[in-house]
Amino acid sequence: MDMTHAAPNDFDALWMPFTANRAFKQAPRMLARAEGMHYWTPDGREILDGTAGLWCVNAGHGRRQITEAIQRTTAALDFAPSFQMGHPLMFEAASRIAQLTPAGLDRIFFTNSGSESADTALKIALAYHRARGQAQRIKLIGRERGYHGINFGGLSVGGIGANKKQFGPLLGNVDHLPHTHLHANLFTRGQPEHGVEKADALEDLVQLHGPDSIAAVIVEPVAGSTGILVPPKGYLERLRALCTKHGILLIFDEVITGFGRMGAPFAAERYGVIPDMITMAKGLTNAAVPMGAVAASNAIYEAVVDDAPPGIELFHGYTYSGHPLACAAAIATMDIHRDEALPARVLAIEPEWQDAIHSLRDRPGVMDIRNTGLIAGIELRPFEGKPAVRAGRIMQRCFEAGLLIRTTADIVALSPPLIIESAHIDRIVTTLGEAIAAEAA
Ligand SMILES: Cc1ncc(COP(=O)(O)O)c(C=O)c1O
Repeated sequence: MDMTHAAPNDFDALWMPFTANRAFKQAPRMLARAEGMHYWTPDGREILDGTAGLWCVNAGHGRRQITEAIQRTTAALDFAPSFQMGHPLMFEAASRIAQLTPAGLDRIFFTNSGSESADTALKIALAYHRARGQAQRIKLIGRERGYHGINFGGLSVGGIGANKKQFGPLLGNVDHLPHTHLHANLFTRGQPEHGVEKADALEDLVQLHGPDSIAAVIVEPVAGSTGILVPPKGYLERLRALCTKHGILLIFDEVITGFGRMGAPFAAERYGVIPDMITMAKGLTNAAVPMGAVAASNAIYEAVVDDAPPGIELFHGYTYSGHPLACAAAIATMDIHRDEALPARVLAIEPEWQDAIHSLRDRPGVMDIRNTGLIAGIELRPFEGKPAVRAGRIMQRCFEAGLLIRTTADIVALSPPLIIESAHIDRIVTTLGEAIAAEAA
């Protein structure tokens, strides 16, 4: 029997992440197999993947090229240490990533997840300033409604109260910019008109904390986890200018916007705003093996590494940094992105995606629709006194009707694989539209 189809008979042992465990175990939603744009449940029901897994299977499921690269690699080199040792694939994977990142962000540090990438970038920022004799620059600035994973650094700069409330005290050396979601921008297609001035809050934080106190600002170019907040026109440019003016490093968390989803390898390229570091994960290996990375500017590498005394320059790294299987998967994934021109494909289908998603505007309870690249957010009015229930029921209805969507509070977030075709878009909009209508009251 194919083990992927074996239905478990004991749900007790597993403590599931970011899941309502008790409710799930009463009525499990299980996925057993995947190919292309689809999952299949253990009983063989086809589920259209409207979320690329968790924003990560950008090239679609079951890519043989990636699987075979993993199989070949594990047979030849199951593991090699990356502390004071190397193996060819990690250098090749880093060079390939550096070809995709904006010019000048050519130094790649490997991690195993988006959370580890966020914490790594924050630590590199602190080490950079220290290496340049500015050890007093210790403030880390995030943004309300930002998500940078769940490790202590990323959680501290993150802007989601629910994620923090069980775990204090978090880092004390943090502050936050305001989020950019404005009523004036409702139902905007692409980048909103209003909100550039939200970046000026950084000037206030510089005044508040002192001119040489801030090490780094970390933002998602498009906030994903809190329901698709697309940057207002000019906002990222202004943030960049203010960071440069005050000697602050700008970090873009591109864990979901990286690897083609924005119609460019990274959002930095789509928006023409170049940060000092980019964090990435997810689409890097098409999620076939866990892997993350931080791309740092050459100036950062020179300060931390080239100008350091002999010996280990950065006391940071993970046992699995640059794991051979992950490197093999990353290289094969980048081959697919290149050969199938996935970013260009996104740009080509984006207008159709946008029109289709915005056609849901008049469905009951729809308060806002936002989109960019192959991402969309549909915000629903919560049921009176029952936050998240409406969207949760819509998610369940979609799953029963053969569509996987993701919800955060009462916002539906869509991020399908980049190989999506018109028929899939139609199906997403039809199924979701019916589910929204069914939860009208
Ligand atoms: C912007 C961003 N940063 C970091 C993370 C955390 O990534 P991981 O779950 O791989 O740790 C995510 C996950 O969704 C994310 O969207």
